[in-house]
Amino acid sequence: MSNKKGTFMEWIDVRFPATKVWNEHIAEYYAPKNFNFWYLFGSLAMVVLVNQILTGIWLTMNYTPTAEDAFASVEFIMRDVNWGWLLRYMHSTGSSAFFIIIYLHMLRGIMYGSYKAPRELLWVFGMIIYVLLMAEAFMGYLLPWGQMSFWGAQVIINLFGAIPFIGEDLTLWIRGDYVISGATLTRFFALHVIAVPIALLLMVFLHLVALHKVGSNNPDGIEIKASKDDKGIPLDGIPFHPYYTVKDIMGTVGFLIFFCAAIFFAPEMGGYFLEPPNFLPADSLTTPAHIAPVWYFTPFYAILRAFPSIAGSSFPGVAAMGLAIVFLFLLPWLDKSEVKSIRYRGWMFKLALVLFCISFVVLGYLGMQQPTEAKTLVTRIATAVYFLFFLAMPWYTKMDKNKPVPERVTD
Ligand code: HEM
Repeated sequence: MSNKKGTFMEWIDVRFPATKVWNEHIAEYYAPKNFNFWYLFGSLAMVVLVNQILTGIWLTMNYTPTAEDAFASVEFIMRDVNWGWLLRYMHSTGSSAFFIIIYLHMLRGIMYGSYKAPRELLWVFGMIIYVLLMAEAFMGYLLPWGQMSFWGAQVIINLFGAIPFIGEDLTLWIRGDYVISGATLTRFFALHVIAVPIALLLMVFLHLVALHKVGSNNPDGIEIKASKDDKGIPLDGIPFHPYYTVKDIMGTVGFLIFFCAAIFFAPEMGGYFLEPPNFLPADSLTTPAHIAPVWYFTPFYAILRAFPSIAGSSFPGVAAMGLAIVFLFLLPWLDKSEVKSIRYRGWMFKLALVLFCISFVVLGYLGMQQPTEAKTLVTRIATAVYFLFFLAMPWYTKMDKNKPVPERVTD
């Protein structure tokens, strides 16, 4: 049997570098031995990506992308299609799970300075993935053609109208009509099921190619390639397989416990994952009392609302929202510290990161609320903290009293 298998693999290897790729990227790929809990989120992001694609394919089999039938086809999936309710909840809960995982994955990158040289491109590819994910989630939310799908898209697409000179034409081009209509729905469907997923898969591939070129960072922020044995193997590295394949499987099982609990017991998560107005069909004549995007967009929505309109144009808010994302792209060049990991940084970076995280959560909360005078004031303070994290970064990362970094990883 093993003989047969051996010859079969030889046959393949002459024609396709299967064993070579397996060894280079899995069996003999040396990853730092000190990965912790935070290093699970990359593989979990891949698990959720696969979940979204598979459940999406099956949903598409029964979904109808027309303004007349979209809402009813989703109800048909929920009530009549065998296991349709499960597919739909796996997909809708999956999108929130995706953002929870991605936010934690990004936070890990910031904590351990994983965006710093030589991992700048890895970070930039990650940020492109993040922007694509936002586009994917936004377009997906229009598809059930509920009240929040319709009015949420109305509000967000109108924002593009605030861009000087091209705004009006741009919104018309995005909608494919003067109002959100069936034309908008069909193009969002095409982009959601084909164009953006292809771009996402491509970017995830490039993300991993960049990762394997430079190697993973780790909680100590020490380059393990700097200390190698005489065979050229990093002294602080262990083979990815079996050590991290097993660890990632454990992480996936842990994640699935939470994921299944959400799907089976709280798929709408009290209106956070699926908003109540979306259980009513889209109606262009009735505006919901309160329009707010899904939780993962609300920090940016709050930043948008923090800025007053000028001469009736919401351009300042729209520009600030765009900048909030652009600054994330620029992190590798804003951080002037000699040290990567938070373990060896001084108090200034630690304080800045804590304040940044608090501001992000506060903005996320306020973005879901009806604005009042007091809430607008808090939103403005949180927005200032958010931007100061980036704007002051070149200064406080240089001034900070870092601790000495050991030569080898510590645990
Ligand atoms: C579909 C989305 C994504 C997938 C499937 C993905 C996958 C992965 C995987 C498998 C790893 C290696 C394991 C780990 O370090 O956790 C990784 C590392 C990394 N990812 Fe992602 N990622 C995604 C999105 C992002 C985003 C949005 C960012 C940031 C903007 C990002 C930044 C990074 C960085 C900096 C590393 C290296 C971390 C280190 O070595 O310390 N990724 N990613």
